[in-house]
Amino acid sequence: MRYHPHNRHFLFFVQADHEEMSRRAARYLSMRVRDKPDLLLCAATGGTPTRAYELFVRSFDGHRHEASRLRVIKLDEWGGLPEGDEGTCEAYLQRHLLGPLNVTPDRYTGFRPGVADPAAECDAVATALDEKGPVDVCVLGLGVNGHLGFNEPGPALQAHSHVAKLSQESLDHPMVRHARGSDLYGLTLGMGDVLHSRSILLLVNGAPKREALRRLITGPVATEFPASMLWLHPDVTCLCDADAAEGL
Ligand code: PGA
Repeated sequence: MRYHPHNRHFLFFVQADHEEMSRRAARYLSMRVRDKPDLLLCAATGGTPTRAYELFVRSFDGHRHEASRLRVIKLDEWGGLPEGDEGTCEAYLQRHLLGPLNVTPDRYTGFRPGVADPAAECDAVATALDEKGPVDVCVLGLGVNGHLGFNEPGPALQAHSHVAKLSQESLDHPMVRHARGSDLYGLTLGMGDVLHSRSILLLVNGAPKREALRRLITGPVATEFPASMLWLHPDVTCLCDADAAEGL
């Protein structure tokens, strides 16, 4: 089902379930890489895109060279986790995307986990994005509180890479369940970086995201719900599953 309530620049597609959503996402990504082999992909982590990445990687089986120029930038990272911690976004991306597609370090940009000076790390990522950007396709998940990356709800948002104070919802995320009680913070691309991406692929699945999806579709554009900023972007594709879309 295709659903675009107000705007042909923001397309909603409701798929039967997480698997179908992931298939469609993988197809979208593979097509974009085939159109532009040196595509700069901004990659979110978390439970939502894992299967899509797996199918995306698999789409290059037998012709891995077609992904040999793909470039990747990491959307965000947990600060306060040691380097090598399995909960880091780095470990996730290495396992699900960078390793399987053999994305070499020269084609990858990301906040390094465990750095002593997170503000300097954000500056380094901002400089790299300036040189290599803009992002061609930005894959995003939707936080239950409407966050995108670690652009958390609040009276203001930051445009570029920054150190973020995490919301309780982020601190409760399963990726850092093992690190409860640690002093965690976020390193994230800013809302301006997200909005400067040429295209955005937003993935939303499951009943826990129902209220956030409803707010995204019906709510005003407001920094208190960062995902609503996507209404200001000219090319957003939102793939969700029937569970998340129930009642819309
Ligand atoms: P999830 O996380 O994909 O694990 O649901 C998304 C988010 O909180 O940004």
